[in-house]
Amino acid sequence: MRVAIIGTGYVGLTTGACLAFIGHTVSCLDTDEPKIRALKSGQIPIYEPDLEDLLEDARPNLTFTSSYAEAIPGAEVVFIAVGTPPTPSGAPNLEYLSQAARCIGQHINGDFTVVVNKSTVPIGSGNWVGSLLRESSEHRTDGVIPDFAVASNPEFLREGTALHDSLYPDRIVIGADEQRALEVLYSLYRPIVDQTFQAPTFLPRPESMFAVPLVSTDLASAELIKYAANAFLALKISFVNEIGHLAECVGANISEVARGIGLDSRIGPRFLNAGIGWGGSCFGKDTAALIATAGEYGLHMPIVEAAKIINSRQRDRVVEKLLRELKILKGRTIGLLGLAFKPNTDDLREAPAIEIAQKLIDRGVRVKAHDPIALERFESEHRSMGVHLCTSPLEVADGCDALVLVTEWNDYRDLDWDLVAKKMRNAFVLDGRHALDADKLSRAGIHYVTIS
Ligand SMILES: NC(=O)c1ccc[n+]([C@@H]2O[C@H](COP(=O)([O-])OP(=O)(O)OC[C@H]3O[C@@H](n4cnc5c(N)ncnc54)[C@H](O)[C@@H]3O)[C@@H](O)[C@H]2O)c1
Repeated sequence: MRVAIIGTGYVGLTTGACLAFIGHTVSCLDTDEPKIRALKSGQIPIYEPDLEDLLEDARPNLTFTSSYAEAIPGAEVVFIAVGTPPTPSGAPNLEYLSQAARCIGQHINGDFTVVVNKSTVPIGSGNWVGSLLRESSEHRTDGVIPDFAVASNPEFLREGTALHDSLYPDRIVIGADEQRALEVLYSLYRPIVDQTFQAPTFLPRPESMFAVPLVSTDLASAELIKYAANAFLALKISFVNEIGHLAECVGANISEVARGIGLDSRIGPRFLNAGIGWGGSCFGKDTAALIATAGEYGLHMPIVEAAKIINSRQRDRVVEKLLRELKILKGRTIGLLGLAFKPNTDDLREAPAIEIAQKLIDRGVRVKAHDPIALERFESEHRSMGVHLCTSPLEVADGCDALVLVTEWNDYRDLDWDLVAKKMRNAFVLDGRHALDADKLSRAGIHYVTIS
């Protein structure tokens, strides 16, 4: 099938690469022209494991453009995958979505086209995008009468495992109020639903993977599924962090408590890692958007609101723990291990490291930091913060009064902790992710503390 993808960020580029890889003809469009030039010349603007290899394999079916006139006419499916960043009120900024919808309306042709919201958008956005498309196509002078339906296909990929999540998803959700739109999307995803595509050698099909559940719903339900899923994951993390706080008070071990509850198949072990809480571009924004949407209907969402409050409290607890250990923060040097909001990505949006660094800088701390992948992005996006960036964890440790593990990159688990201890002015490590080997660090003479 012929597909256009609007927006070549983490979601759009992954989706485009995967759909081209399974045999569709895909045109990826972005208004960021330098980004498109880079993609055309084989450079990849984001870090995502295996993406370079998949793009290479998919290249015969893939083109990149900044021109709506090039990408849209003739596309049977048009995905909108533009950013929907949060506004101060919590509601997402829909400016990019509205620009994309208007441009699609100006270029769509007379053949039936399904326009799909893949961006995470508030409930009701499907109807709104439909009205924008109609409005912009009404102003056309070329006599074309567009024939389209709007659908929702929320994205559940996790950065760092985005290709795996797209080729071998837990489920695919499609929502539309017109049956023919659902049928088009079913045809598009059939190779993934039936797992009939030839798996890439570098990303083999999991042995237990036979078919992918396809959840086919109305528009509003698909839109709500995305928000409800993210809110649930966010509150699962906040729940374990709340229990973790109590565990600390009563002398219980939160890792063991989490394992003990997670083995209950009704609960499940994932997203039960206590620590400094979630970050990233989705959970904070999507929980805020859910609360804002509920507010429009006069509803409160106390559970989701509490999840947010607890998450922000976890960041304060980092500072509290450092204060308890060091007594005075002013004039201290503290090192952060990890800047990206999670391992295996270079994404710094809502990264806990940024919030923690700012809190420490505000208290007069000299902050040093390392990240295996995100240093360059940090330098270009957050240079003004005044964080001293280091090219190795040992350089961070040098002269530090404390190290905080913020992002649980594998690289940090296997550090030479004896050497780290020797480099530090005060051998104290605050493990914000329960990721390090406590015995190993203690043997190296490090005072090791976790946050839960
Ligand atoms: N990143 C994730 O892990 C993730 C997961 C699930 C859902 N989502 C949702 O998917 C959407 C996209 O997220 P992302 O992380 O890929 O964002 P992103 O910021 O990485 O990419 C968005 C891209 O859209 C482009 N763009 C903006 N306006 C445009 C326009 N009018 N026409 C063409 N291109 C335009 C931007 O230049 C940018 O390259 C968001 O709604 C997000 O909430 C993201």
